[in-house]
Amino acid sequence: MDTKLFVVNDINDEGDIKKIEECAGIIKNGGLVAFPTETVYGLGGNALDDKASMKIYSAKGRPSDNPLIVHIADMSELEPLVKEIPDIAKKLAKLYWPGPLTMIFKKSDLVPYKTTGGLDTVAVRMPSHKVAREFIRKSGLPIAAPSANVSGRPSPTTAKHVMDDLDGRIDAVIDGGQVDIGLESTIIDVSSDVPMLLRPGFITMEMLEEAAGDVERDPTLTKGVSKGLKPKAPGMMYRHYAPKGDMAIVEGAMEDVIARINHLAGEHNASETAVITTTDNKDKYTGCRVFCIGDRNDDETIAKELYAVLREMDDYSIKYIYVESFKNGKHGEAIMNRLVKAAGHKIIHV
Ligand code: TXA
Ligand code: MG
Repeated sequence: MDTKLFVVNDINDEGDIKKIEECAGIIKNGGLVAFPTETVYGLGGNALDDKASMKIYSAKGRPSDNPLIVHIADMSELEPLVKEIPDIAKKLAKLYWPGPLTMIFKKSDLVPYKTTGGLDTVAVRMPSHKVAREFIRKSGLPIAAPSANVSGRPSPTTAKHVMDDLDGRIDAVIDGGQVDIGLESTIIDVSSDVPMLLRPGFITMEMLEEAAGDVERDPTLTKGVSKGLKPKAPGMMYRHYAPKGDMAIVEGAMEDVIARINHLAGEHNASETAVITTTDNKDKYTGCRVFCIGDRNDDETIAKELYAVLREMDDYSIKYIYVESFKNGKHGEAIMNRLVKAAGHKIIHV
């Protein structure tokens, strides 16, 4: 299959609108189009067509019991997809939609089980990215879209990442430049009495509690996954976001962290070893490749650059990766949730 690439910069430009319309046509005909959202690129298909959902699983190499998020552009599109809209969901939608928040509802009969991985609930999100909204509107359909990466790889934050993973496997990609946020949406389950955070993201626990009162955390977020403890979001089970190399997070007082990483790096070949660090520390490492993802005080940038840096580890065939901990900022929970998984839970305390 030939994957078409459409560069779209301006949804008010006639040429760009034509491109979006062509992509909307692909969706209406049962095809797959990757598109930018404010979080990460999504791989879109008609959410109401079980064949389109099957194509998504197959293009990503994703297990079909891992449900897809359904994307809408307007509040009126929510009602047909769900059994009920709890008051808490209305409040959250008012505050954070359109935006990087996904809510889990009891699904209506309209939504095929193939889209929800066999579950009686459906995940819905209204993205704020202008191109995404225009694309959904022009499609006239709710769009099922997981992150547009091959299953297990870091989520794509540029169209190039999407092409690297899915060229030849999908009909088209809309290139809207680098995304803003860089981590997937926050997921909150509003289908039972007490709302539960299933995946941390840009909308923090504090922001959710402000609107919804008490919010629980899925126990696996703090205790990890084990035989008796499974995450409510099936996708949180899988190894994720991971580069091929051996990765470890080094945590502790900064001087000790730097000393330990330099020591560990000294045990390996410099060209195959990397440290992921911030501007203030980047000149303190020797004997390895240094990847700087921004200023430690600016964790929005750290979030935005994280997946691109993880992908670079593979581009440079890095075998040993050491990364500083970023748990202290506003977005620390979301960043560390991804990093800890990417590192296969390997944390070195110094
Ligand atoms: O920011 C995002 O959410 C991006 C962009 C493209 O919108 N999408 C995304 O989709 O991250 P994906 O498929 O990579 O992650 C969806 C997560 C998975 O962990 C999945 O198991 C969970 O949402 N999920 C989907 N439907 C669910 C449901 N009904 N109940 C529980 N978890 C669900
Ligand atoms: Mg994903």
